[in-house]
Amino acid sequence: MINFDFHKYASKYIKKEDKVEYLEKAREIKARFIDGDLKYWNKLDTFISSQELKKIVNMTDYIRSNCDVFIVIGIGGSYMGSKAVIEALSPMYDKKGPEIIFLGTNLCSEEYYETLEYIKEKDVIVDVISKSGTTLEPSIAFSLILDLMSKKYSEEELKNRVIITTDPEKGDLRNLANLKGFVTFTVPEAVGGRFSCLTPVGLLPIAVAGIDILKLINGARTSYERVDRAIEYAVIRDIMYKKGKIIESFTVYNPKLNYFCEWLKQLFAETQGKDKRGILPISCINTRDLHSLGQFLQEGHDIIFETVIGIDKDKMVTLDKYDMELNSINKIALDKVGLAHYNGETPSNLITIEEKNEETIGELIHFFILSAIIGALIMEVNPFDQPGVQEYKKLISEELE
Ligand code: PA5
Repeated sequence: MINFDFHKYASKYIKKEDKVEYLEKAREIKARFIDGDLKYWNKLDTFISSQELKKIVNMTDYIRSNCDVFIVIGIGGSYMGSKAVIEALSPMYDKKGPEIIFLGTNLCSEEYYETLEYIKEKDVIVDVISKSGTTLEPSIAFSLILDLMSKKYSEEELKNRVIITTDPEKGDLRNLANLKGFVTFTVPEAVGGRFSCLTPVGLLPIAVAGIDILKLINGARTSYERVDRAIEYAVIRDIMYKKGKIIESFTVYNPKLNYFCEWLKQLFAETQGKDKRGILPISCINTRDLHSLGQFLQEGHDIIFETVIGIDKDKMVTLDKYDMELNSINKIALDKVGLAHYNGETPSNLITIEEKNEETIGELIHFFILSAIIGALIMEVNPFDQPGVQEYKKLISEELE
């Protein structure tokens, strides 16, 4: 269950009368999600068939007992969701199962050199994820890893060690998989990378990390109340935006949500940042960032609002010094920083989960996906494309050819 407080430290910016102009639009949008063309997005739990889910579970068992290192290759939406969930829900130390290495997010030779050295004597399984099958960074990473694996394993063995997650029908990766007999998973036709965390794109790496994907999917199940909340949040963001708050900080008080914030930044930037519009997403991992960006949020240019994701219950660490739980002090920090920033003209929305687990993370994923799509519809930009991302790919490819 998620708790929303869009009032306490935002009220002086959000007046009742500001919301009136959105009523008609909000009604139309809700109808599209409940029973119209966007119905699909209100049912993230149906993004994956039971057949494919079974295949993921079986493959997970195989991967967990047959490699030292599981390499996930992908960029943008093809890896961010799984990395976010894995970081959020894994223990810091003493992780069980194969080590998971993400590759394909840059062109840095130092990173590849060191990774190739590190894995050369290890047993490896790779999952290359690219919906288009043509993105430069993952395709370079895959060629390097496949080269190394081809020297270690027979053609027959490679069939068990190379997994391709791509478009159901087309693209270079689908063709290669058909040719070589590699295991494949499908990115559903209608689901772009940044929305694909609860498809095989995200679910296989998450399951390999030992996280219960059924609970995650369960958390993301349809909730009509969630659509209402997502509309309310999207309206508040738009009101802030029109009042000059053009930057949104996703702020957390648990460092394990660092990559969740990275996922949010990608989700909102690619969904809304187009046609010279959009709110720039940044993140603060507090209390660390109170000693860097915090200064700007408190006293810098008045262009920022925050969306704070709080966690009510956490592991027990008692501080004799104050005769208090450390988590209570963390919660006091969250509240008092909210007040301080509000006084400094940086308002905040507060989203709280009771505790951090598969279900609540699933709920948050669904809530933010809905919010990003609805925010784009309110801003009248297309939520589902990312033409600006294509531009740089085109220029690099032209140069390479
Ligand atoms: O959200 C998106 O659509 C993008 O971030 C893509 O995931 C990213 O560009 C990678 O594309 P592809 O999966 O085609 O390699």
